[in-house]
Amino acid sequence: MNIIHIPAQSAHLQPVISSIPGDKSISHRSVIFGSLADGSSTFKNVLFSEDCVNTIRIFQALGVTIHTDPDAQEMTINGVGLHGLKSPAETLDVGNSGTGIRLISGVLAGQSFATEITGDHSIQKRPMKRIVDPLSQMGATLTGSGTTDTYPPLKIQGKTPLDAIHYHSPVASAQVKSAVLLAGLYANGPVTVTEPSQSRDHTERMMKAYGVSIDGTTMQPPQKLTPPSTEPLWIPSDFSSAAFFIVLALLVPNTDLTLTGIGLNPTRATLIDILKEMGGNITVTPTKNNTLEPYGDIRIKTSRLHNITVPENVIPFIIDEIPILAVAGLFATGTLVVRGAKELRVKESDRIHGIIDLAMSIGGNIVELEDGFDLTGVRRPLDFSLHSKGDHRLAMSGIIAALAGKVDATILDCECINTSFPNFLEILREQEIVVGLDETR
Ligand code: S3P
Repeated sequence: MNIIHIPAQSAHLQPVISSIPGDKSISHRSVIFGSLADGSSTFKNVLFSEDCVNTIRIFQALGVTIHTDPDAQEMTINGVGLHGLKSPAETLDVGNSGTGIRLISGVLAGQSFATEITGDHSIQKRPMKRIVDPLSQMGATLTGSGTTDTYPPLKIQGKTPLDAIHYHSPVASAQVKSAVLLAGLYANGPVTVTEPSQSRDHTERMMKAYGVSIDGTTMQPPQKLTPPSTEPLWIPSDFSSAAFFIVLALLVPNTDLTLTGIGLNPTRATLIDILKEMGGNITVTPTKNNTLEPYGDIRIKTSRLHNITVPENVIPFIIDEIPILAVAGLFATGTLVVRGAKELRVKESDRIHGIIDLAMSIGGNIVELEDGFDLTGVRRPLDFSLHSKGDHRLAMSGIIAALAGKVDATILDCECINTSFPNFLEILREQEIVVGLDETR
């Protein structure tokens, strides 16, 4: 188990960070669309974290040739076409990735062969009924374990073609929407997904880029997917990873930090609006248009923050940033009110519980609710120790909280950071932050 030790220190941040890695959601989708296209696609600024590497391995196991160069953060995929995947020899393993298992299941539902897909301990506890229901309604057969929900391993017997569907998802989830839309590539008629409130739209954008006729969330099954360009496609850097440094920069005195090349898709970057409303001095400079998704530079200056009530309708747009938003809330005046965020209970860990743990251990006041929390700032931050529960975003939030509070912290079970942000510690060290790492215990 990796243990990270952050000694009490006063950080002084350098003015620029240009090494936030590529977007995780877009990297997964790049592998999927590149694999199913007619022709080859080259991507740059690919995230080679454990989650995305597992998705690459899965498509290799399904017979796709993918050349990777992790040092250059590049990959070239020789697409096999919509109907070119081969039956894999083994069970497919997504590791820790909910996006991996749900999106790939959508693709597998439309194949003529049977597959089995699973992942690590955390994945085996994550609810899959949310994709099993619509994919079964489209004609595929998916079975897993469990009585109240369905848990991996999932056995999937595909059907060709799948039936057209208008599916209303009970949860606002890009993973559910994407599973159904990807299955829609193999449907015999139009596929529409509606949801209680809009979730991130990377799949819809990727479908457009690969020539699928899609209007909002209604798509027409295409004859084929066509790569948008023979030129390399640029994946913006991950806003969710950048968020840790946005909050750190707001909280560390005398900071004026610019993060370059960060994804600015409005369904992902809403944390900026929330932090600005809390008094954050943040300026965004969009770069020129990009084939895949918009990106630009984010400049952050130290700010005095005051807490707010987060509007419930933006929760899906900040769902991955709520742990680090809570860290900002710990060092702000007033009460941070978060509601309508029950989905946090079924992420890589129960993140509401993790936020409560973190807030209490550093000396904050927090009230736990089923779908959120009320958090009031910490007066005198305490040295603390925190178990990440194998959740990358909680581990990184704990580290940022320690640095903002200038306290000594020990964070247990930190290997998980590699699932999304492999160079996180390297960036901290480039910022001359002292980080102890014990890999032996
Ligand atoms: C993701 C969707 C979100 C998000 C996850 C990535 C995606 O999950 O939390 O980190 O790439 O589609 P849900 O769809 O469960 O909200």
